[in-house]
Amino acid sequence: MSKPKYSIIRDAVVGRNSRIYDHVNLYKCQIGKNSKVDAFVYIEEGVIIGDRVKIRAFSFIPSGVLIEDDVFIGPHVTFINDKYPRVRGQWKLLKTIVKKGASIGAGSVILPVTIGKNSLIGAGSVVTKDIPDNVLVQGNPAKIIRRL
Ligand SMILES: CC(C)(COP(=O)(O)OP(=O)(O)OC[C@H]1O[C@@H](n2cnc3c(N)ncnc32)[C@H](O)[C@@H]1OP(=O)(O)O)[C@@H](O)C(=O)NCCC(=O)NCCS
Repeated sequence: MSKPKYSIIRDAVVGRNSRIYDHVNLYKCQIGKNSKVDAFVYIEEGVIIGDRVKIRAFSFIPSGVLIEDDVFIGPHVTFINDKYPRVRGQWKLLKTIVKKGASIGAGSVILPVTIGKNSLIGAGSVVTKDIPDNVLVQGNPAKIIRRL
């Protein structure tokens, strides 16, 4: 891995041939082999990312997210792990799984759900419910448009 500039990488495990670009923040997460993390991506503790995953610039991936192999995360994608955020007090960490081969379009917001294999999330979607395998969804809230 060439040394990215202005990135903060602490206790992260990054697999062979994975590329991490500049201004990235990785903390206690795991990234597989041959993956690519573009500039200004923020990945939190405990996140697991598979092999051959591509994450475009400015995405936010908090604790509780699992991304399987061959997933595409577009620019400015935001994952949510807390449905009722407050400054103080207890909170419940909720989980999201993005299954193998799925793609998430630019600017989407992903509530804690499971996104099925090979499914495609249209740009600007807000995904509020689990998405089955092999479908195209789009909109707010995201609805199934057709099978792929
Ligand atoms: C969802 C998507 C796959 C649809 O592509 P398509 O099947 O070629 O659809 P079309 O462009 O022919 O549009 C079909 C209809 O869906 C609408 N539409 C297209 N994309 C949409 C989206 N993301 N959200 C809401 N509606 C959308 C169009 O306005 C059109 O509506 P109409 O039938 O009322 O005119 C595509 O538009 C998309 O969002 N892809 C993700 C791209 C992306 O984020 N890439 C990241 C790399 S930069």
